[in-house]
Amino acid sequence: MTGSSQVPYLLRAARGEKLDRPPVWMMRQAGRYMKVYRDLRDKYPSFRDRSEIPELAIEISLQPFRAFQPDGVILFSDILTPLPGMGIPFDIIESRGPVIDPPIRSWDQVRQLRSLEPEESLPFIREILQTLRREVGNQATVLGFVGAPWTLAAYAIEGKSSKDYTVIKGMAFSEPAMLHEFLGKLADSIAAYVRYQIDSGAQVIQMFDSWAGQLTPQDYETFALPYQQRVVRQVKATHPDTPMILYISGSAGVLERMALSGVDIVSVDWTVDMAEARQRLGPNVGVQGNVDPCVLFGSQDFIRERILDTIRKAGNRGHILNLGHGILPKTPEENAAFFFETAKQIDQRLAVSS
Ligand code: CP3
Repeated sequence: MTGSSQVPYLLRAARGEKLDRPPVWMMRQAGRYMKVYRDLRDKYPSFRDRSEIPELAIEISLQPFRAFQPDGVILFSDILTPLPGMGIPFDIIESRGPVIDPPIRSWDQVRQLRSLEPEESLPFIREILQTLRREVGNQATVLGFVGAPWTLAAYAIEGKSSKDYTVIKGMAFSEPAMLHEFLGKLADSIAAYVRYQIDSGAQVIQMFDSWAGQLTPQDYETFALPYQQRVVRQVKATHPDTPMILYISGSAGVLERMALSGVDIVSVDWTVDMAEARQRLGPNVGVQGNVDPCVLFGSQDFIRERILDTIRKAGNRGHILNLGHGILPKTPEENAAFFFETAKQIDQRLAVSS
């Protein structure tokens, strides 16, 4: 039993404490690679039901907690979940991904958007997070999450997942004022949503700007960074002690700029060496991530080697072990289990000195 005064590992690492081993969780740790999730999905085929009916979302969030005892339990939800509360309905269709119809492409649509009232449009989030905190106690840290304005705008404007982002970039490069108006509204609503998640029990918040790595560094500074900063600034004004993590896919070219967002921890993908990421980010920012999700398709010796390598390079302060992006649906479940077990058995003094 963990004593009631004990602060869980992930929260301690997020606050920059030196630890014997890094805390570990995985992006998308609840989901299709787990048989219990696939079975439940067969019974409840609607993603919106699975993520918005509290009993289901709580059960799914706890599936990996029960199976692997990760140090972080992330709320089962989606970055798109707050959009209907702003007047942007969505659905997630099996094998196609998110669909937003009609997509947001005109001034009229942008003007008509409502600002999010989280208590009113997302009452299930409070229930889910409160229950997760109760269930998890001090055994793990409960993570909330949101999408950042650029990435949410990309879905709302493209209407679906995109390979090249031609529609949103076309808007950025021909009608920037309209896109800025939209990004600003998203930022204010997302900040309100983050505060609501924290008030409901989230102890750490991860902001996903998954597709900001698609921007040139110059355009990142115009369309992504200022709106990440606007969210972080508003959240830190009322909740200065809640650590925030920023994740971007394909971020090696904008790593230093990610730290300018004001977050406490930068979550890096696998396109950068962890030691170089540390150097480039400096001592005041924590790091997370970096293990290629495909490592979990390798042998267990290889998985162990890569975990140790990442830990040696990240050092023993302000490091959260994670993958460089979400765990892939076809990942062998026993290798996910091995990843968690190995990470939790590591004594960092050995990992760092050997
Ligand atoms: O980490 C967790 O366990 C929490 C769950 C979570 C989901 N979505 C559940 C989900 C999280 C953190 C997200 C965030 C999210 N959603 C992101 C940012 C993270 C990233 O991957 O970059 C993005 C870009 C989305 C948008 C989204 N939702 C996409 C692109 C898809 C389809 C992906 C696919 O592989 O089909 C979704 C659907 C979705 N959200 C699934 C899950 C488990 C898969 C659908 C299902 O299980 O039925």
